[in-house]
Amino acid sequence: MMIDLVVVGLGHVGLPLAARACAAGLTTAGHDTDPAVLAALDAGRSHIGDVNDTQLAGMRAAGFRAGRDRSVIGRAATVVICVPTGLTADGAPDLSAVRAASADVAAALRPGTLVVLESTSHPGTTQDVVRPLLERGSGLRAGEDFHLAYSPERIDPGNPVFGVSNTPKIVSGCTPLCAKHATAFYSRLVDTLVVAKGTREAEMAKLVENTYRYVNIALVDEIALCCDAMGIDVWDVLHCAATKPFGYAPFRPGAGVGGHCIPVDPHYLAAGAEAAGSPLRLVAAARTVLDGMPRHVADRAAALLTGPGRTAAGAGVLLLGAAYKPDVADVRNSPAVPVARRLREHGARVLYHDPLVPDLRVDGTAVPRATDLPSALAAADLAILLQDHACYGAPLLTRSPCPVLDTRGRLFGPHVTRL
Ligand SMILES: NC(=O)c1ccc[n+]([C@@H]2O[C@H](COP(=O)([O-])OP(=O)(O)OC[C@H]3O[C@@H](n4cnc5c(N)ncnc54)[C@H](O)[C@@H]3O)[C@@H](O)[C@H]2O)c1
Repeated sequence: MMIDLVVVGLGHVGLPLAARACAAGLTTAGHDTDPAVLAALDAGRSHIGDVNDTQLAGMRAAGFRAGRDRSVIGRAATVVICVPTGLTADGAPDLSAVRAASADVAAALRPGTLVVLESTSHPGTTQDVVRPLLERGSGLRAGEDFHLAYSPERIDPGNPVFGVSNTPKIVSGCTPLCAKHATAFYSRLVDTLVVAKGTREAEMAKLVENTYRYVNIALVDEIALCCDAMGIDVWDVLHCAATKPFGYAPFRPGAGVGGHCIPVDPHYLAAGAEAAGSPLRLVAAARTVLDGMPRHVADRAAALLTGPGRTAAGAGVLLLGAAYKPDVADVRNSPAVPVARRLREHGARVLYHDPLVPDLRVDGTAVPRATDLPSALAAADLAILLQDHACYGAPLLTRSPCPVLDTRGRLFGPHVTRL
């Protein structure tokens, strides 16, 4: 029996896509290589914050199943690849999952199938990496025997307003016909589609979106450091600047950027630019600023703990918010880790509080977790607000018995120091 859609890679991008497809009435299956992911889905447990167990139950009732058996790919009208594109240990783009997934798809590919890559990657990945793997492995030709497209995901985990269906989606194809098939597929799931000239333009557009955030966050971080040196309140500066109704987009400084996209994607863009002989100097400068922010925050905390007869050594520092952004459980590349590491170098006793994150590790060692916030604040010598989770209401932290270093610019009060 044919299946409308097989999603390859059931993570933060793939599972919400599968959920949307099920809701739109498409017969949908999933393919993943991680036994833990498959076991959880099989038991009806979602591992992704944006898809809850009730939604998963609805998907399963609609026939959704996930597995490792790639023969399901051979029954798909459309295959969408949503596997990770991380970095190698030395910070270079790592396309191993895209290659492995492409090889798996190739082995089962049938004529007439639409294959879409959604993973973020440098321009040329669809044409120069995925296409040859699919063609060699299947003996079929893209644009003739099957359709090949690129459509970058724009999912924003934890965003209560914008999801798969109401976020405009860029679509592109290796040929105009491929783009047409991709547009027909996504029009069943997404309200607004934007057709790019080609796959390289669509790949580049995704990298530009995230690099724009990367560079602008670095800019306000650097301005925060400069304002600190000049005795100027950066938060008031940014509040005032943001009142301009045109020509200005607000960004906020903080302890660093995290997640799977913002700290990673500019490396893909920079590597592509470097290979083309056109290095991006702003991206390199932004990286230097962003990489220094966790250390800056930790050193600022250590300075606050240092006074007559006392240093940071032995002081109890409570990190508020271990995730990389507010109200999600994701700790990938979270600045909480380098902040904790640097505080340990100062000799501080580091604890964290985060209602969504059960475990935080620094270089393999667990950071003790505080679960009762009021008593943790009472016991700490200093708290650092790293993420403004909803649970960190201003009244609670403003009445905190210990001093607070606020990296989010949310708090006021005599014992609050803002970044
Ligand atoms: N997370 C986001 O907010 C976000 C937003 C936009 C774009 N993206 C991009 O989307 C892509 C996927 O990101 P994610 O956050 O969903 O990753 P993820 O790590 O949450 O999920 C990826 C899934 O793919 C599976 N996988 C790995 N190799 C596989 C293979 N060879 N075959 C089948 N499954 C495999 C993993 O087991 C995992 O379940 C990345 O390129 C990322 O940059 C992510």
